Amino acid sequence: MTKRMLSGVKPTGRPHIGNYFGAMKQWVEMQDEYECFVFIPDYHALISVQNQEQLANDIIQTTIDLLAVGIDPDKTVLYKQSDLPHHTELTWIFNCLVTMPQLMRGHAFKDSEAKSREVSVGLFDYPVLQAADIVLYDADVVPVGEDQVQHIEMAREIARKFNNTFGSTFKEPQALIRKEVGTIVGSDGQKMSKSYGNTLPLFASEDETMEFIKKIPMDSKAIDEMKNPDEYALYKIAEPFMTSQENKELRAKFENGGVGYRSVKEEVYTIINDYLRPIRENREKHIDYESARKVLKAGAEKARLISEPKINDVRYKIGLVP
Ligand code: TRP
Repeated sequence: MTKRMLSGVKPTGRPHIGNYFGAMKQWVEMQDEYECFVFIPDYHALISVQNQEQLANDIIQTTIDLLAVGIDPDKTVLYKQSDLPHHTELTWIFNCLVTMPQLMRGHAFKDSEAKSREVSVGLFDYPVLQAADIVLYDADVVPVGEDQVQHIEMAREIARKFNNTFGSTFKEPQALIRKEVGTIVGSDGQKMSKSYGNTLPLFASEDETMEFIKKIPMDSKAIDEMKNPDEYALYKIAEPFMTSQENKELRAKFENGGVGYRSVKEEVYTIINDYLRPIRENREKHIDYESARKVLKAGAEKARLISEPKINDVRYKIGLVP
């Protein structure tokens, strides 16, 4: 039987190439092999975005981003979380099964605590809403970045607890991590993350791409010296963009020496820019708020065909249907 995949991307501004190579790209590649559900977790975004105009805009922009990278609404059910009330309803039901110590192990919660930030109940409960997102649709696999593994593990625990309490109802989902893409690094060589200010936006203009590459630090080794490409942020950044042939050639330039950093940077710029150009141009074609809204609406109708019977089963099993 065709397996079902489900994943989501928060509407919190422009995606960067780490988001793309870590997650979105595989969603596109899975469209012909899996039954695909991709959604916009807008209630999750509310934890950090508390501004009407910004959230409303980001929801549509993110939809456009997904269409531009190749999510095809004829193949993938593309919807937003808040159109299906069942996500939040199931969250409450799960809240009554999940314990505080369980959630206190959450990375995001521990992080905020460590930084002495104020923790909203929403942030604390984030993994439970995410579990509801996933198991509501009986997803088999959840293709996500490495940072989400804990959340998928929690979803499995929650599904198991519900099944043990009320009888077999939910599938335990599997995280799907692309091992071949290592960590995508940013301009400073650290993991690419908005919080480090080292990102390359997926839809960066040519100028932005150039600025990003200029920022990447090199060293003072002489041109003729042999260098190990794996020690350079510049090489690591270029890696996911290259064909194996391009990769071989770029490695050789580091290893053999004789080529200045300036010209290596120019070459990397060309490789990245050539890769991003079609995606960027595709986005221009999709900038139409009205059609993006229609896509979400049609997607929600399809999603409901799964989520509604599921929540009805849950309501019955827990005793809400006397
Ligand atoms: N927490 C995910 C992220 O930050 C977004 C998300 C919410 C999600 N619900 C999901 C991802 C369900 C996969 C499945 O990237």
